Amino acid sequence: MLWNAARRRSPHWNILVQAVYEPVLNPLKVSIVADKKLLLEITDLQVYFNIKDNTQWFWQPAKTLKAVDGMTLNLYQGETLGIVGESGCGKSTLARAIIGLVKTSGGSVTWLGKNLPSMTATEWRTVRRDIQMIFQDPVASLNPRMTIGEIIAEPLRTYHPQMSRQKMQDNVKAMMLKVGLLSNLINRYPHEFSGGQCQRIGIARALILQPKLVICDEPVSALDVSIQAQVVNLLQKLQQDMGLSLIFISHDLSVVKHISDRVLVMYLGHTVELGSCDQIYHNPQHPYTKALMSAMLIPDPDKERAKKTQLLAGELPSPIDPPSGCVFHTRCPIATAECVKTRPTLAGNFRHAVACLKVKID
Ligand SMILES: Nc1ncnc2c1ncn2[C@@H]1O[C@H](COP(=O)(O)OP(=O)(O)OP(=O)(O)O)[C@@H](O)[C@H]1O
Ligand code: SF4
Ligand SMILES: [Mg+2]
Repeated sequence: MLWNAARRRSPHWNILVQAVYEPVLNPLKVSIVADKKLLLEITDLQVYFNIKDNTQWFWQPAKTLKAVDGMTLNLYQGETLGIVGESGCGKSTLARAIIGLVKTSGGSVTWLGKNLPSMTATEWRTVRRDIQMIFQDPVASLNPRMTIGEIIAEPLRTYHPQMSRQKMQDNVKAMMLKVGLLSNLINRYPHEFSGGQCQRIGIARALILQPKLVICDEPVSALDVSIQAQVVNLLQKLQQDMGLSLIFISHDLSVVKHISDRVLVMYLGHTVELGSCDQIYHNPQHPYTKALMSAMLIPDPDKERAKKTQLLAGELPSPIDPPSGCVFHTRCPIATAECVKTRPTLAGNFRHAVACLKVKID
């Protein structure tokens, strides 16, 4: 409480105190805080939904579905954070909470030091310009009645209504070229393009306002493998050229490995491990990450045959009735009685943090 009160006192005080003490108070920031700007910080985020199912009578109270329940992460300027985890573990809900499409139920989400959920409508407008999203289904995310020129220019019309028509068109054409689309296609409609080209249009629209962060929620899973590689390489190139930060959500562990600097592993709405790509893929520590990585295909047939896959028992528990203590204990091969009672917190440093009672990170 004292810390928060001090933070509110003045912006200069805030910066000074953060620079001196925050690396000590928040171990996830150690070592990178000096050379890179912290864009996004999420601490113990909760997103709960009240739901009623067919088995309930109308007088019975709604149940609480804990889609996100204790997520912690941080994101620095220019880095790509990959997010992996089983279907239903809350990846898309997390993404939607960051851009304000769903209400948060607890915890904090700060963008450049400001708490997002408590921002005014005007402040949100600025943040919306800085944080853009690319969706899974490229065709469904484009309005079929608009030309691609109009689709890409839409954010410009909202944020720069005074911009001349000619300048807007020049900007759109330049962006089309950047994403690999011929500018003479500007007056065509989305149905005239392939899935890969539609995703390029979605990327152009997301980047036209020069955002700081782009959240990509399964951006290539609806595309053919060869097109997937082209779109991933395009995202990587644009990120380097424009100094963007990316949050890259995917089920495809190989794609996440290719594009990410750090990787966050989610399980039932929780961060279970967060670390550099090398650490997560070559030296995972959390039992869930170990199982996930052991299921990844190895391109070498001999190594693939020789590897031991760790199969997890059972299914992902329901987020309506999550297990007590460590939420992974029902499937963990090394769980103890303590795991049933005590919930582990994410502990470690910026390079590597794990939420497991049996793993200690120096
Ligand atoms: N608006 C909503 N109302 C009620 N429940 C929701 C809502 N949105 C998501 N959920 C539930 O929250 C949980 C997490 O869903 P979410 O879509 O975030 O998972 P995900 O990790 O993105 O899954 P996938 O990998 O399949 O896309 C699921 O159990 C889902 O049914
Ligand atoms: S805390 Fe216990 S149950 Fe959870 S991952 Fe660690 S060992 Fe397994
Ligand atoms: Mg999803």
